[in-house]
Amino acid sequence: MVKTMRILVINGPNLNMLGIREPEIYGKGTYDDLVEHVRCGARALGVGVDFYQSNHEGDLVDRIQQAYGVYDGIVINPAAYTHTSVALLDAVKTVEIPTVEVHISDVSQREDFRQVSYIRLGCVGTVMGKGFDGYVEAMEMLVAGQEDAK
Ligand code: DQA
Repeated sequence: MVKTMRILVINGPNLNMLGIREPEIYGKGTYDDLVEHVRCGARALGVGVDFYQSNHEGDLVDRIQQAYGVYDGIVINPAAYTHTSVALLDAVKTVEIPTVEVHISDVSQREDFRQVSYIRLGCVGTVMGKGFDGYVEAMEMLVAGQEDAK
């Protein structure tokens, strides 16, 4: 029997405020719209998907640890913690689940402090500047990676 791939989509601080927060950068869609969009993409790809959002670094670490042995891939937008958190990098390295980093905006074109990404060192890929579609592209990368590993 073919096992359905399971992907966990994690969003960090302030992404629960999508739609309200700087819409000129992040768009008008809400967090619920994002979840719906990614759910649709997952359905089309034939993968199972779960979502987690938190504004707290330790809670994000806990959720990554809990993914061990449960999920085949992680899509993570650590938001501001991208640029500060060694703890999140260590967590993804600990569980060794293929992880793709996503940013709604193109961080490479923004402030200097956004040019550092700790999580990237533990990720198999990065997607940025593609809005909500970037999360679907990240899932496609994980699916392709699993196919290659067969
Ligand atoms: C972000 C970019 C980060 O620099 C920022 O702190 C965020 C969102 C993005 O999705 O574009 O909160 O990760």
